[in-house]
Amino acid sequence: MKLCMIGTGYVGLVSGVCFADLGNDVTCVDKDISKINNLKKSIIPIYEPGLDELVKKNYKAGRLKFSTNIGESVKKSDIIFICVGTPTKRNSYEADLSQVFTVAKEISKNIKSFKIIINKSTVPVLTGDKVEKIIAKKVKKKLFSVVSNPEFLREGEAIRDFIYPDRVVIGTSNKSSNKKLKNLYSPLISKGAKYINTSRRAAELIKYASNAFLATKVTFINEIANLCEKLDINIEDVSIGIGTDKRIGGRFLRAGPAYGGSCFPKDTRALIDTAKKTKTSLSVINTVINSNEKRSEILLKRINKILNNKIKNKKITFLGVTFKANTDDMRESACLKMIPYLNNKGAKIKYYDPTGQKNEFRKLKNVQYKNNIKHACEKSDLIIIHTEWNEFKFLDLKKIVKKKNFILYDMRNIYSPDKMKKQNIKYFGIGR
Ligand code: UGA
Repeated sequence: MKLCMIGTGYVGLVSGVCFADLGNDVTCVDKDISKINNLKKSIIPIYEPGLDELVKKNYKAGRLKFSTNIGESVKKSDIIFICVGTPTKRNSYEADLSQVFTVAKEISKNIKSFKIIINKSTVPVLTGDKVEKIIAKKVKKKLFSVVSNPEFLREGEAIRDFIYPDRVVIGTSNKSSNKKLKNLYSPLISKGAKYINTSRRAAELIKYASNAFLATKVTFINEIANLCEKLDINIEDVSIGIGTDKRIGGRFLRAGPAYGGSCFPKDTRALIDTAKKTKTSLSVINTVINSNEKRSEILLKRINKILNNKIKNKKITFLGVTFKANTDDMRESACLKMIPYLNNKGAKIKYYDPTGQKNEFRKLKNVQYKNNIKHACEKSDLIIIHTEWNEFKFLDLKKIVKKKNFILYDMRNIYSPDKMKKQNIKYFGIGR
């Protein structure tokens, strides 16, 4: 099939490349000329394991093209995916849909034959209706159908999540569009993905409700972890104990720092905004947002306690600063609150991240990037494991750290407290 992905950010690029790998003819479009020129040279704008190889392979095979010309790309495609950003508006919980609507207008100028237009961007309920209205101003209704097809890719696991999704959600009441899309996704359905056809509005809500539910799970286990710390219970036991109940499920029950990233914080807020507009109370999600916003304060208090209320002049190392492992994404990372706070209190901070130095900390005095674990840790009083990269999982800290009584605060619970005790390492985890 001939596909066009408008927006070569995370969603558009990963989905476009994976669709090309399934044998489709895909054009990835972006208005950013340098991004497109780079992609033609296989220079990838985001960090995602495995993506560069897939881009090279499919570009070379001619199934994957890159273009800045939205009009031409729309004209030659059967299915057009809108994959532009929907950030939160400033000082508000509302999603900014301006890019979606601009693209819809552009698409409407270039429809000469039947097109399926898909909202793959995360958009609030009713956005499909609005996109349809915009296009209908220029194009006869029988020449297009607007469908919602949310994505459920996780950063760092996106290619695997694309190839082996739990489900494919298609929101449309148009039978022929549904048939074509079922056919497009048939290679994934045959590998076990459940195909779910719903109304367009339901598909839009499924995306938000999924992220809000997962954010709730993470927040729930983080709060239970707080209780475990008070009662000398290991949160890992509780996570396994409740997660083996199939009604609950074991995933997303790893306690840690505040959840972050480009999706959970943005999407929970946008859902609250939708609820407000429809005068509906979503008190659970409101509480999740508030609890998550306070999470870094709780962890900072614990750091203070671990250091006997003496943060000033302490040498603190952060291993990993992105919002989670296997991504270079700093958006809403818990570190963005914790590092400036500790810096303000007079700590001397070094950090190492496998994805390199971060602009967010460049201006902070006494926050230094080190390009390897040894240099980041050797003089440290306190080492904080903030993300769970594999390279942090088997550290011989006794060898690396020159300070005698250094402390390890493992915010992802990747080390065994017993093993740390045997090695005489002063160890703190989350919820244990
Ligand atoms: C999330 C969803 O998992 C994807 O299904 C969705 O497609 C995506 O948002 C999106 O809307 O685009 P992502 O933001 O990449 O994916 O990251 P997750 O792996 O879901 O992690 C989100 C946050 O929760 C991270 O800060 C992570 O550290 C935290 N988390 C996750 C935990 O603290 N504990 C867990 O058990 C799981």
